[in-house]
Amino acid sequence: MVILAAVLLLIGLALLAYYLLVLTEGVFLGRRLVVWLYDRVAKRYDALKQFDSDYEEAFLARPLLFRLADMTEPHLLDVATGTGRVPALLLGHGAFRGRITALDASSEMLAQAAQKLAPYRGRVTLQHSPAAPLPFADDTFDAVTCLEALEFMPSDAAALAEMVRVLKPGGLLLTTRRSDWEGKLFLHRYRSRDSMTDLLRALGLYQIEINPWQVGYEQVWGVKVGRMNYEG
Ligand SMILES: C[S@@+](CC[C@H](N)C(=O)[O-])C[C@H]1O[C@@H](n2cnc3c(N)ncnc32)[C@H](O)[C@@H]1O
Repeated sequence: MVILAAVLLLIGLALLAYYLLVLTEGVFLGRRLVVWLYDRVAKRYDALKQFDSDYEEAFLARPLLFRLADMTEPHLLDVATGTGRVPALLLGHGAFRGRITALDASSEMLAQAAQKLAPYRGRVTLQHSPAAPLPFADDTFDAVTCLEALEFMPSDAAALAEMVRVLKPGGLLLTTRRSDWEGKLFLHRYRSRDSMTDLLRALGLYQIEINPWQVGYEQVWGVKVGRMNYEG
């Protein structure tokens, strides 16, 4: 009986550890642990994700460049850039003429990004920082991106509020929401489409669109209300 209880306890603890460290990537244990886990995985991150370049071009670069087309030399901020997915995609694209500030709380993920982005020195700045607060003045960036990261932050609302604060009026936001069953494992942190839309509206965004994207994620777009909208 005692042995059975011990075995059940061990299985329970193993499942709990799997839930806390793998399925929800440490988010219920605080930002330091999330960042520590990303520091550990950084060198293997790209190999694990295996991004498909055709898919990235069609479903990330093109829609982003389409929405940036009216901006001459946009300054884009990529929050939680990881190994530099968004900067590498845009800076390697002839159609993107702007520059990028890429920020992450994991120094090891940023080290991988630095290697990948070395050919674009002068057009990209890497910054080691959490997503909230952001170390930038109000109304700084033409566009802000933050992919596959909001759900791992201590407060997605606080991080989004910071992203909107540093966006210029009329600036573009692209972020993501978890849309698979695993997203619901984040419990009260899970955001339905309606909840995400309400939050972005409350933060001062309009033209909000939520579109299917890759497995487990949807793209969430919005534009920061500009002065025209306040006056008009
Ligand atoms: C799943 S990766 C996504 C990376 C990249 N955006 C991409 O699409 O490949 C999540 C990233 O969020 C970063 N991150 C997690 N919590 C953060 C926080 N509070 N502030 C800044 N970065 C954070 C991690 O270090 C990691 O690089």
